[in-house]
Amino acid sequence: MDRRSPSHAFPLETTSGSSESEVPEIRRNLLGWYSRSRRKLPWREEPSLYGTIVSEFMLQQTQVKTMLPYYERWMRQFPDPESLAESAEAEVMKLWQGLGYYSRARNLQAAIRKLLSLPAPPRTAEEWESFPGVGPYMAAAIASISFGDPTAVVDGNVIRVISRLSGMKAPFSSNSQAVRFIRPFASRLLDPSAPGDFNQAIMELGALVCTPRQAACPKCPLQPNCLAFETAEVEIIPSIQRAPTVDTKVFRLWLYDRTSDTLVLELQQGKSRLSGLHELPAIPIEPSDAPRFESLMVRTRTIGNNRIKEHIVQPVDAFNFRTNENHETLHRIPVADLESVAISGPHRKWIRELLKIQTSGFRASGEGSC
Ligand code: ADE
Repeated sequence: MDRRSPSHAFPLETTSGSSESEVPEIRRNLLGWYSRSRRKLPWREEPSLYGTIVSEFMLQQTQVKTMLPYYERWMRQFPDPESLAESAEAEVMKLWQGLGYYSRARNLQAAIRKLLSLPAPPRTAEEWESFPGVGPYMAAAIASISFGDPTAVVDGNVIRVISRLSGMKAPFSSNSQAVRFIRPFASRLLDPSAPGDFNQAIMELGALVCTPRQAACPKCPLQPNCLAFETAEVEIIPSIQRAPTVDTKVFRLWLYDRTSDTLVLELQQGKSRLSGLHELPAIPIEPSDAPRFESLMVRTRTIGNNRIKEHIVQPVDAFNFRTNENHETLHRIPVADLESVAISGPHRKWIRELLKIQTSGFRASGEGSC
């Protein structure tokens, strides 16, 4: 059989790829590999709806090895939906601190509160999509893993596995276009008799074997069905055009008071991704104001495709510099309390650096990045 002929396109009508008749074999090989080789993760070993929801929120944009300690700590502090629903937002944010994309933490708590308000948990992906912070990918994961709903997940891993299997070389114009294009293929491939395991298996294969670079093809259970392997094009598939990086600059105010050993921080509010966390206050500085500030250090952080250069400055004449610290978002916080306050990961790191330098009399230098 010529697997590359258009009439044998997999699993839809494309000009390349494995044939529809290979679908049962692909499912069998993938599920067999998953049952032998999957990572033993706490939410898989002791499955529960709550564990699945928490793990899927944490796994969005984050790798297993990064989120695992957070998951374990979370389950110790909030072992069931009720304990999470009843806790204060500041406590939730504190526990999430360092994982990034903080709106996930707020949405997770809101989703659990909504779940508890219902007479019974929804069983379909469509219903889960109405929950705060739950998009099509997470809805499919939760409904398939917890209720056997036959809806395919499409994340970066699934896009990679399917586009390689089918030898899709044409570039995707964006990640969302890739998701739209791959979804019908993923739906055809999904094993309706084991949708939860199948979805986890294809994501797991993308995470462990069919990786973006240096894919472990000799270990891959789908190698016999993979067109990209056959044509030695694994490394160039998929091709996804990324949004260009945007460079911006912000000034941050350093208002440390040595006498009281306190530091001014600003609580982020509104719809910002960092809402609920503290950061050094942002301050607009016009070139004409520059002589009033001394530069302490410059650090770079990246949020999405934004590369932000953060200049941390302190007023030259701190004695006469006024901020309205009674403003509800500006808080003067004792340094001894900083560990118990929710602060964004990069700012916590830079604050530690600056405090160390200021209390030991050295000066910060150079540029770093986060
Ligand atoms: N990535 C996100 N959710 C996952 C899951 N349940 N299994 C493997 N990888 C995942």
